[in-house]
Amino acid sequence: MKENLSINLKNASGFISYEEVIALAQQSVRHIDTLNAGTGAGNDFLGWLSLPDDIIQQLDRIENTALHLRSVSDLTVVIGIGGSYLGARAVIEALSHSFSPLLKSTHHDIVYAGQNICEDYLSELLEILDGRNYSIIAISKSGTTTEPAIAFRILKDHLEKKIGKEAAGSRIIAITDSRKGALRSMAETNGYESFVIPDNVGGRYSVLTPVGLLPIAISGIDIRMLVNGAKKMEELTRKNKNASSNPALLYAAARNLILQSGKSIEIMVGFTPKLHFMAEWWKQLYGESEGKDGKGIFPASVDMTTDLHSLGQYIQDGQRILFETMISVESPSRMVTIPEEKDDSDQLNYIAGKRLSEVNHNAEKGTTLAHNDGGVPIVSITIPTLDAYYTGQIIYFFEIACAISGYILDVNPFDQPGVEAYKTNMFALLNKPGFEAAGKKLKERI
Ligand code: PA5
Repeated sequence: MKENLSINLKNASGFISYEEVIALAQQSVRHIDTLNAGTGAGNDFLGWLSLPDDIIQQLDRIENTALHLRSVSDLTVVIGIGGSYLGARAVIEALSHSFSPLLKSTHHDIVYAGQNICEDYLSELLEILDGRNYSIIAISKSGTTTEPAIAFRILKDHLEKKIGKEAAGSRIIAITDSRKGALRSMAETNGYESFVIPDNVGGRYSVLTPVGLLPIAISGIDIRMLVNGAKKMEELTRKNKNASSNPALLYAAARNLILQSGKSIEIMVGFTPKLHFMAEWWKQLYGESEGKDGKGIFPASVDMTTDLHSLGQYIQDGQRILFETMISVESPSRMVTIPEEKDDSDQLNYIAGKRLSEVNHNAEKGTTLAHNDGGVPIVSITIPTLDAYYTGQIIYFFEIACAISGYILDVNPFDQPGVEAYKTNMFALLNKPGFEAAGKKLKERI
């Protein structure tokens, strides 16, 4: 078993050569230098690079707040959208019991709001919260994003009516900018405990700030191990100029070469449903960082073996514009073996006595070979096991590889100008003050 996250390009070798990957990876060391020197595009947003060290001093406070919320409530609603919730959810879903809500132990439930404006979703959540003893974490760097702001207004009102304004105030935590935005002013006016999202850390790179760490700590996950894992990955990537042993340089170089060979869609593939939200986080990280100026690889994801029975057909046989990044977990944390059955009525005795992980690994190997034969290059990323330490490695690995990859593509990986377009139209259509003229023009088009 390898000690750290590792990358294997063997199943991409029919499409790109290892020599060209090494050459581009070695050339890309300059992008690490640029990140370290803070001289590249988006250099106002490089705080995430040193978070594994910088966040240590805040861990006691984050853990104490988590303990406080766990002691006064048995459920926390995490309000946020995009980078303000996906990292926390990715880690919590990867490391928690798959059936958490059904556990009757000392477990603390986490639910999410503010990622949509669906009336039924929020109404159903309110129905659940009527009968629960809950807290709220409101997360928004700008403090003004519409989706979480609406959810927060509704849930704050619900909690205040349920337990009174003062008690509600002690169960609401705000995570936002140090000075700007409506959430900061509300925290100050109402005396909510609050955490700061550093100015130099963008939403999608913020999982190792209180944005991710507070919800993760509340769910009972060891945030120190998570940060330790990220720190190890910082050593292996940010501080490593040897391309052949730097997994982030290799990944960034390989995916750009595969793009140049005509494959413009990258599918993240996991063979455990626990990685579903890790892929959602990754899609936002790469989609928002690279998809601009008419450039970028479109990030998609599938859960295997589930999706072998839906999108598997397309991946095997559809348009040859895809490549896969497969995340392998070497050892599961638990054990289930397939029992022997006397009459073998379901004809499964040929795998009796085997662990499910052995069957799953063979499904993974079989899929890799089949997709490769079907013209799909595959980049394999392996972690020894899915725990807090290796999840920390995954996070830092994908963050720094994304920044390097963005620089290879010659885009600013830290801005997201395209996100504003829908907001302007929505505000105009809702007659937000200041948007009247734009609203008039849009309404003529509908
Ligand atoms: O990564 C990003 O910057 C975005 O996805 C933001 O996190 C998202 O738009 C939410 O913004 P805010 O935290 O300001 O509410």
